[in-house]
Amino acid sequence: MIDIKDLTMHYGSFVALDRISFQVQEGEILGLLGPNGAGKTTVMRILTTYLYPTSGTAKIQNLDIIQDATEVRKRIGYLPETAPLYSEMQVEEYLKFVASARGLNGKTLEQRLGWVKNACGLRPVWKHSISEISKGYRQRAGLAQALIHNPKVFILDEPTSGLDPLQIIGIRQLIKSLSREKTIIFSTHILQEAEALADRIVIINEGTIVAQGTQKELADQVRKMGETKSELSLEDIFIGLLKAKSKKAKDLGQR
Ligand SMILES: Nc1ncnc2c1ncn2[C@@H]1O[C@H](COP(=O)(O)OP(=O)(O)OP(=O)(O)O)[C@@H](O)[C@H]1O
Ligand SMILES: [Mg+2]
Repeated sequence: MIDIKDLTMHYGSFVALDRISFQVQEGEILGLLGPNGAGKTTVMRILTTYLYPTSGTAKIQNLDIIQDATEVRKRIGYLPETAPLYSEMQVEEYLKFVASARGLNGKTLEQRLGWVKNACGLRPVWKHSISEISKGYRQRAGLAQALIHNPKVFILDEPTSGLDPLQIIGIRQLIKSLSREKTIIFSTHILQEAEALADRIVIINEGTIVAQGTQKELADQVRKMGETKSELSLEDIFIGLLKAKSKKAKDLGQR
């Protein structure tokens, strides 16, 4: 469904991504986990065709992100780090506008509007101006704009960032409820977020993949490195893997 191969991104002389490769299967929720500056947003901006990679390829439903960029865009719903909202518009007006820009009209447009209103829990603020709704509802409106055209692939950059605990639970439930029919990649630097949502996790740091697998597979990797705790949290896994990686780099340096 999504196939990323040797994706590399240089910003001038700075290497933001260095040969990243991973795949996401249909119907899977993949968590892209990494600290600030790891390269999560860069991966997402390349996949959504907003950035050209320096080298490497990515295919979404067998369509190339560079050669078939227009087709790729049609199939993707994207929630960037900051939701692209027009604060002077009402929620309904805004979503109608996005739907028209996506080429929807007539009955289909009405039907999709009704669907996102319910699915994203926007009914209470439907006629409200975006400038006056809470951050949680703004994020829901952001999710709604990404879903309006019923894309198969959903790319969410830190979907719960800056929300309060109740709002986080609401957004997580919403994402989970979508996952049966969509393929989802979301990014986070919060370990619990990846634990709560992802079927599989790709951990990146400084532009390279540190590890990938299910939570259990990642825990097994850390155990092999000598960690003895019986119940490993993702945090233990993350710290274990990063330590192992920097030790390897040091050992190589000493040779
Ligand atoms: N336009 C740019 N020009 C130069 N450097 C950039 C640019 N965009 C990103 N970078 C750098 O590339 C690296 C990866 O950035 P990116 O935004 O992808 O990280 P991230 O994992 O999304 O971080 P965060 O968790 O803070 O959102 C960072 O060091 C960042 O400073
Ligand atoms: Mg980011």
